[in-house]
Amino acid sequence: MTNLFNYQDHESERQRVDELTKLINQYNYEYYMNDRSLVSDLEFDQLLAELISLERMYPDLAKPNSPTQRVGGEINKNFKQVSHRFPMLSLGNTYSIEEIEEFESRTRRLLGNKPFSYTCELKYDGVAIGLTYKHGQLVQAVTRGNGTVGDDITTNARTIPTIPLQLYGQYPDDFEARGEVVYPFEAFQAFNQQRIADGDEPFANPRNAASGSLKLQNSAECAKRKLMFCMYFMMVPESAVVPQSYNTHSGRLEAAKQMGFRVQPYLKECSDIHEIKAFIDYWDTARWDLPFGIDGIVIKVNQVPLWNELGLTAKSPRWAIAYKFKAERVSTPLLSISYQVGRTGIITPVANLQPVSLGGTIVKRATMVNADFIQSLDIHENDYLLIEKGGEIIPKIVGVDIEKRQPNTPRIQYITHCPECGTLLVRANGEAGHYCPNQDHCPPQRLGRLEHFVSRKAMNIDTLGTERLRILLDAGIIHDLADLYYIQREQLVGLSGCEGTSLQDKSADNILAAIHNSKQIPFERVLFALGIRYVGEVGAKKIARYFKSMEAVANATLSDLMQVDDIGDVTAQAIVDYFADPHHQEIIQKLQQAGLQMAIINDENTSQKLKDLTFVVSGTFQHFSRDEIKSSIEQHGGKVSSSISSKTTYLLAGEKMGPEKLKKAESLGTTIINEEQYLQLITE
Ligand code: IVH
Repeated sequence: MTNLFNYQDHESERQRVDELTKLINQYNYEYYMNDRSLVSDLEFDQLLAELISLERMYPDLAKPNSPTQRVGGEINKNFKQVSHRFPMLSLGNTYSIEEIEEFESRTRRLLGNKPFSYTCELKYDGVAIGLTYKHGQLVQAVTRGNGTVGDDITTNARTIPTIPLQLYGQYPDDFEARGEVVYPFEAFQAFNQQRIADGDEPFANPRNAASGSLKLQNSAECAKRKLMFCMYFMMVPESAVVPQSYNTHSGRLEAAKQMGFRVQPYLKECSDIHEIKAFIDYWDTARWDLPFGIDGIVIKVNQVPLWNELGLTAKSPRWAIAYKFKAERVSTPLLSISYQVGRTGIITPVANLQPVSLGGTIVKRATMVNADFIQSLDIHENDYLLIEKGGEIIPKIVGVDIEKRQPNTPRIQYITHCPECGTLLVRANGEAGHYCPNQDHCPPQRLGRLEHFVSRKAMNIDTLGTERLRILLDAGIIHDLADLYYIQREQLVGLSGCEGTSLQDKSADNILAAIHNSKQIPFERVLFALGIRYVGEVGAKKIARYFKSMEAVANATLSDLMQVDDIGDVTAQAIVDYFADPHHQEIIQKLQQAGLQMAIINDENTSQKLKDLTFVVSGTFQHFSRDEIKSSIEQHGGKVSSSISSKTTYLLAGEKMGPEKLKKAESLGTTIINEEQYLQLITE
């Protein structure tokens, strides 16, 4: 893009951008590194907003490492694979203290009478990444991958507050900072809770969530995740001239701290095996008090010049080793089993255990997953169960303590009927769990459907949370989701609320207003909100676009439904079953009468002009954001695909298009069109 502005023309803006950058960087640093707020949130947001608007107005002033990049927004479609300049080695690891003793005595033997020491530090349980800095600027962030090649995740890394974008003080001109991206427990739990509330699958542990976050396509999403980067290693090219302090690993980390990295404060220099063992012993229990997960201790020779002397084995250096904590395991009696009924009717058996202390907490319950799990471990009544707590926070049942089994105890008999409503449970083909099919009347499912109906991605009635829905159900004001639209104001006012308080006029008005506003939610979301089994957000969109109205969907046959892209026989059957139920027909009728959007509004922007054409979109556009141009293609009956293949009709190329895409399109002979040509296609 040509720069319309002359550099001289906005000298004062340039100065202001520099000034704002410095201030915001300093506030961020104090906040994330030293837990200190130098300004109010409001003041901070105002400064950031000013910088964002200056950068928008004068794009030549926007630097890739500006603090505005912390909020993200750039879209990564495919992560570029890049080679590591220095291979990312892993460490030899062991669960045995004897092997640590051997490591220590071998190191001493190999180093003869040279003076040296060890560093002991925490082994973070996260995702390893390498950050390249040139002239104090972050230029690239790459995941470990296979140690030789990893994914370029620079735009996502820029959103992590503990990754410095510009370094402070003294630093080598060119080096790599390595460390682990971790998801602190508190932020992880809040994030998972939000996922559950949004109807998304929660992550199994903080490590998986951290890894998934780094691979998010929208960096603005990554910015919301509250990840933390903990630096543990500095890789400097051999040719670099560095201060004397860089001769030790601890000296390098101290220098890194001065540059603005978060370096672990727990590092300890140890001179012998006794000190190493004491460090391990201490953290074996103290680890449960940390705000993030660790899975062991890393022991390194502190003197960098000795590393070459000790050398490498096939995959790992001889100057370092990792001690991994054993998962703690206890044996405790199974007292009883509770069967929980989830919001979608899935039954989860939960073991009620004799309370037992494990990894710093008292464990009273643990999931038994499903009937197969109980059967595969061959659990009998009154068995002692073996419970483990590894790096993950949630205790797991890993087996039965057979020696403690009483003679003649019967096997666990799985329930056959729903504990909430008494309906006979079913187990669909290919599904691991049993579920209660009484979707509309089984109490937890009734509440679950309502929660889904009001959720953000569905009808977005945000004034109705779980507690309020429960109260409305208990008071008999609503029985199904359509009843929400028939609530009278006087039914709400004075209704006893959650904590003994009663609903005030204002809250009642807010609830009614949000319900009323939801009548404008487009048809595809209404269809999704119904909570038809297997019909997710994307499926609902495709079905809505194909059939265009609720009436057409309700009258569709199995084979009609299977014409829709990506709708298979299981989903199609679930839709047919849903609309065949008279209770559901009544709900649809009530929703229609209440004035919800029951069809796609045919505005003039909708057509079939792009029917049978498949587009791949790359780069940025003048008239549309990336999402807008994609939905424009879909509105005109076209298909959007993420990668170029022989089926691609057009590569729609914007500015700064990815070079890989261009190469692929050229090699396959795909027609490349620009934004103007696209506009002609849909308007001609
Ligand atoms: S040092 C050549 N220090 O553990 C030595 N690694 O196989 C480079 N890890 O994937 C690693 N905490 O990502 C080192 N304090 C720490 C660490 C650490 C976690 C990870 C590392 C690697 C694995 C070791």
